[in-house]
Amino acid sequence: MKNDTMFLVQAHLFLGVASALVIHSMPWKVACPHQCICQIKPWYSPQSVYREAPTVDCNDLLLTQLPSSLPQETQTLRLQSNLISALDQTDLQGLVNLTELDLSQNSFSNSHHLRIASMPVLLSLHMEENQLRQLPDSAFSGLPGLQELYLNHNWLRNIAPGAFKGLENLLRLHLNSNHLAAIDRHWFHALPRLEVLMIGANPVDAIQDLNFKPLGSLRSLVLAGMGLRKLSERSLEGLFNLESISFYDNHLTKVPKEALQTLPGLKFLDLNKNPIQLVREGDFRNMLHLKELGLNNMEELVSIEHSAMENLPELTKLEITNNPRLSYIHPQAFMRLSSMESLMLNSNALSALHRETVRSLPSLQEISLHTNPIRCDCLIRWVGAEADKPVRFIEPQSTFCSEPPELKARRVKDVSFREMADSCLPLIAPGTFPPYVQVRHGENLALHCRALAEPEPSIYWVTPKGLRLSTATSYGPYQVLTEGTLEIFGITAEEAGFYTCVAQNLVGADTQSVTVQVDGLDKAQFRSSWRVKDNLQVKDVKERYALLAWPASYNAPSARLSWLTNESLADHHKHSARILAGTQGFNLTRLQPGTHYRVCLHLGPNDTSCVHLRTKEIPVTTATPDLTPAVLLAASALIFLLATKACQGGASLGWKRQGQDPLKSQACLLPCEVKGHVALLCPQQQQQWPTKEFSESSGTENSDAQHQQHVQGQQAESC
Ligand SMILES: *[C@@H]1O[C@H](CO)[C@@H](O)[C@H](O)[C@H]1NC(C)=O
Ligand SMILES: *[C@@H]1O[C@H](CO)[C@@H](O)[C@H](O)[C@H]1NC(C)=O
Ligand SMILES: *[C@@H]1O[C@H](CO)[C@@H](O)[C@H](O)[C@H]1NC(C)=O
Ligand SMILES: *[C@@H]1O[C@H](CO)[C@@H](O)[C@H](O)[C@H]1NC(C)=O
Repeated sequence: MKNDTMFLVQAHLFLGVASALVIHSMPWKVACPHQCICQIKPWYSPQSVYREAPTVDCNDLLLTQLPSSLPQETQTLRLQSNLISALDQTDLQGLVNLTELDLSQNSFSNSHHLRIASMPVLLSLHMEENQLRQLPDSAFSGLPGLQELYLNHNWLRNIAPGAFKGLENLLRLHLNSNHLAAIDRHWFHALPRLEVLMIGANPVDAIQDLNFKPLGSLRSLVLAGMGLRKLSERSLEGLFNLESISFYDNHLTKVPKEALQTLPGLKFLDLNKNPIQLVREGDFRNMLHLKELGLNNMEELVSIEHSAMENLPELTKLEITNNPRLSYIHPQAFMRLSSMESLMLNSNALSALHRETVRSLPSLQEISLHTNPIRCDCLIRWVGAEADKPVRFIEPQSTFCSEPPELKARRVKDVSFREMADSCLPLIAPGTFPPYVQVRHGENLALHCRALAEPEPSIYWVTPKGLRLSTATSYGPYQVLTEGTLEIFGITAEEAGFYTCVAQNLVGADTQSVTVQVDGLDKAQFRSSWRVKDNLQVKDVKERYALLAWPASYNAPSARLSWLTNESLADHHKHSARILAGTQGFNLTRLQPGTHYRVCLHLGPNDTSCVHLRTKEIPVTTATPDLTPAVLLAASALIFLLATKACQGGASLGWKRQGQDPLKSQACLLPCEVKGHVALLCPQQQQQWPTKEFSESSGTENSDAQHQQHVQGQQAESC
């Protein structure tokens, strides 16, 4: 029966094949055929009725035909693993009480050689693992009492429309692992009582509308391993009593939600191993009896979106595991799942599970999060803080923090919520889109960018030409969906190039980029032919800050602004800041009054534009009398102390300007490291003019990838 164990397990849920009871065989004193074993053995009917059945066991005997002189009382006849290729009408004559006949793993190749005389009490016929190629009309007409028919693992290519005529009592039909290219609705007209149909592992690429319509009694349907790409809305119509369906290992790229809506009684749904990328809003909605749902082993799955599961009042177990790219679950992905007790999320690429997700599940009892790259910061703080609602962690001993570095390899449960930073920089889930994609002219492309943070970040995309597209907008061939997916329709060479996704909240920003090649072209030449020369402008200069602007530019992979005073031309006094993709201006703060600066915008190695500016002098005459230098010094010293304390040593990124007393600069602006991410101390509301992000006092590029990714886009002037 090879790989059918899983399907069988599922089917057993419904037909309740008993197995726990171990009853030993008893001797059966009868003239037994040569080499066979005759015993009274426990036997269960397909409907789990127990019997003690006189059993003749002739398995594995290299028989080419039926043994002669079988005892008349035989109820179960086992002929598994022999070389029988034909059965004669007369062979089984006289076995009036035969209820089970096992001819699996024999050599039947022609169904005309399977002539079974009328056997009204036969309940089970095993013909699996033979080489049957086709079934003619009325192939089993002498078996009106048959309840189980196993035809799996044959070579069936053709089944006549009336093949199953006369099987009014059939409950289970196994047709999986054959060569059927289509499913014919006419087969099922003869099977009004059928409860279990296994027809997976056949090269059927599409289910016709109303394909299963006659099967109003069907409770379990297995459509695994069929190469199904999509399901039409009406493909499952008529299955009023269906409780379980498996689409395991198909090629579905979307949840077949319309088709599923036609199954009012569905309890168990298996969509494992399908190339579904997103579970979208409404994919599972109002399925009032759904109890268990599995979305496992999906190589492509990247995101569970807002309201992906909604109003599933009987769902108790949700299993979303072993999805190597699943890095995002929207905080409001689950709505009105009032019975959900068990949430299995292990072995994905999740960096966090939002506390809102957990709070939205009133009956939640256990959660499994192990084998995920958990980032132990404010998003996961609820694990240690949520005392009011104890949720049991499955395998807490193997649920580790993988970030930030200082908490790495600690158990999430062991990290006190006080140890976790309460600020959350956005983190774009890695792997939701690749660093490089190749598409052909005319194709559509979807790039998913998702970020979790507290507060929720806003997302925008920057195109190769510098166009900034925020969520829920569309422009030309572009559309950015609310959750951060960039869609490009009918792509042409014009759209080739470098795209950047930026996720930003009050605390900071994260970026991730992708190079899109169209027919092998990525437009790199356009970028290098473009110059910013003479395009950098000074918009405004005050005592301590200057506003700089530049026109919409091509989206440069590493845009950077650098500045230094011409009083100290030594390179190590140079400051620089990364420019977030899509920005066209910058507020350069913390400058010294009355000083000359040279400011340069670098868009690439050969792409630099510079300007000179001089900050204003502080008007000496207007100084208020009580702001004496001593008071100023004391005040800033206090701020400095607070700042350094909060930063635990402070200037980890360095702001040492030679010849300048640090107390005279605005000490509270010292950038400091907050749990591995660069952040300023005093986050403020967002504004038009991003200020200096983080700087490297040496003027060299900061090579730490994490620092490159997490840049500060905020002003911190007023603290
Ligand atoms: C068949 O089963 C019936 C009922 O159990 C029994 O009375 C009868 O003797 C059996 N026939 C044979 C040939 O064993
Ligand atoms: C700095 O540059 C300005 C403008 O180029 C120039 O006028 C000034 O003399 C320079 N100062 C020094 C100290 O080199
Ligand atoms: C930069 O300019 C140099 C000299 O003109 C040239 O050799 C090099 O290829 C250019 N690099 C890029 C990335 O355009
Ligand atoms: C630039 O920064 C300075 C100092 O932080 C601030 O006072 C000014 O309002 C900012 N200007 C703009 C346009 O954002």
